Formats: sequence, C-alpha cells, structure tokens
Amino acid sequence: MGDTNYKELTRQMARSLSLIERPRRNRKTDAMRRMVRETSIAPDHLILPMFVIEGKGEREEIASMPGVSRLSIDNLVEQARHAYSLGIPAVALFPALGVDKKDPLATESTNADGLLQRSIKALKDAQPELMVITDVAMDPYSTDGHDGLVEDGKIVNDPTLEILANMAIAQAEAGADVVAPSDMMDGRIGFIREALDACGHTEVSILAYSAKYASAFYGPFRDALDSAPRYGDKKTYQMDPANVREAIREIATDIAEGADMVMVKPALPYLDVIAVVAEHSTVPVVAYNVSGEYAMIKFAAEAGCLDEKKAMAESLLSIRRAGADVILTYFAMEMAELLNG
Ligand code: PBG
Repeated sequence: MGDTNYKELTRQMARSLSLIERPRRNRKTDAMRRMVRETSIAPDHLILPMFVIEGKGEREEIASMPGVSRLSIDNLVEQARHAYSLGIPAVALFPALGVDKKDPLATESTNADGLLQRSIKALKDAQPELMVITDVAMDPYSTDGHDGLVEDGKIVNDPTLEILANMAIAQAEAGADVVAPSDMMDGRIGFIREALDACGHTEVSILAYSAKYASAFYGPFRDALDSAPRYGDKKTYQMDPANVREAIREIATDIAEGADMVMVKPALPYLDVIAVVAEHSTVPVVAYNVSGEYAMIKFAAEAGCLDEKKAMAESLLSIRRAGADVILTYFAMEMAELLNG
C-alpha cells in the first residue's frame, strides 16, 4: 500500500458501495424467511419404524438407539396410536424374534399366528386409518442373518423370491397396507406383485427398497433385532456405496415391475442419490434415515456436542430438500411433537 492508509481506503469504499444483489433482504425477519422458504416438512411426511417383541407390558430399551425400545404388542399399539394422533400416517414394523423362531428358510415369516402377523392385526383393529408397512426380507427370521436364502455360502436369488412372496402374502392376509421388500434380490417386485394379485391382494401397495446400500449405518438396527449376518456381508445384494448410476437402474426396474413407491437408504450420506432418484422417479420417493444416523445425533447430543432437536430438524429438512417425499425415521414422534408446537 506504500504511503496510502488502507483503513481509510476501505472505509471510503464501504461508504460509497452500491450493491444490486443483497440476498440478505430475503432473510430479514422471521415472517420474510417463512414466506420465501423453499422446503417444508410436516408429520404427514414421516413414517415411524417400530420393533415388536413377544409378551405383555414389555418395553426393552435398545442400548445403541437411545429413546427407542422393543415393545410388546400392547405397548406397540399404544405408541402407534400416539404417533397417529401426532399426525404420523404410517408405521413400519420389524419383529425381534428369539433364536428358537429362526431357521435357514425363515419359516416363521409365514406363520399366520406369528408375532408380526399378530402385530399387524392388533394395529389395524385399534387404529384402522393408520397405515401399517411391513418389511419383506429374511433376516429377522433367518439363522444366517441374511436377507436371502443361503446355499453353499452364497445368497441365491431365484429360490429366495418364492420365500419373499409367501412372506408378503402372509403380511397382506394379516392386514398390511404396504409391503416393503428390503432384500435387494433381482426381480422381487414383479414376483411379489404377481403373487399378491393372484391371491386377491391388488390393493396392497409395494414400497420398494430400491437403492439400498451395503452400509455401516445399519449397525444399531442389527443390534435391535440381533439380525447381523452370521458370516460374510451383504455386498453381493446391497448396493456399492460408490455408485449412483446404478440407483437409477434399480428404481427404473422396480417401477417397471410395479413398485408404488421407491426408497433410498440410508439417507444422510446419500442425499445426492436421493436428488438423482427424485429427478428420475415417476412414483413417490421415500428415504430411510437409518439407525446409525439416529444414533449419531443422539449420542452427540448426550455428550453435549450439539443441540439434539435442532440437529434432528435440520437433518430431516435436508432429506426433504434433497427430494424425498417421505422419510422413515426413529425421530418421527419427536419431530412431529416439535412441528405441532
Ligand atoms: C433388513 C433391514 C435392515 C434395515 C431395514 N431392513 C438392515 C440390513 O439390511 O441389514 C436397516 C434399518 C436401519 O438401520 O435403521 N432387510
């Protein structure tokens, strides 16, 4: 600057500045910010995943998911009714079974009197308007802890479809409104659609876990159900986290086979995938804010590192902003309470 006083220079510049673009004008008051907000979130957009166990009056806390419990059917019904009263339109059910109920063929999954089927009936009796979504995959019922049938250490595609279709039909007969295949076998959406229709269940919807990645963020969920693979991993059927073009192929296939909704899972580390899927999908896009994403916020908040409610609201809003219509989240009730004021 030589002899020039730079502080005098910048003062003169600031005083004579004329800006055409001043984006801050659109942020000046709360009313202005509300008016120009691009993304919204409401309880209508939330699905509550729930874990069910045998017994009466049971409530087992899940250590890796603070605030989430495995509930016996009576408590499940009570909590689901509360969720519905908060404006949440649907719950997604996952049964936690004892080892005595597991086998290599997931036989228990079609038991009309099994835990999941009884839970569906109890929920539909108590609160018929609440939608019940059920997971279609072998893992909670399988001694192998895999989503498909294992033969010689390999997950075999086509024989698994028969088991999945039977499972979906058993869930539909119990009253499920939506079946949600989360297994990632090829051809399962078409196979299940045809099987449901052949049994008169043309009204039952299919929510396809279409772009489901082989993710480390399912850890707490597998604790909750004791459903971790007993050996190997899920990389021969769940998607490679490096891929996004493949997600377009998966959703296109599932929609062509009759999926009513498609899903991206997990959500937060895959916001770019949600955005691409939202651009290509002709059906509603669902995102699963999975157990590990939930646990990260809960434990960080417990450690005093961040404000739980604000981090929750910002995360869920960002999933909507990326393009998801609906979000499965363990925060559903907390978020609905926050939104309801
Ligand atoms: C099983 C299934 C999983 C989840 C939903 N369904 C786990 C897995 O694929 O291993 C994970 C949900 C979560 O982490 O919240 N088919």
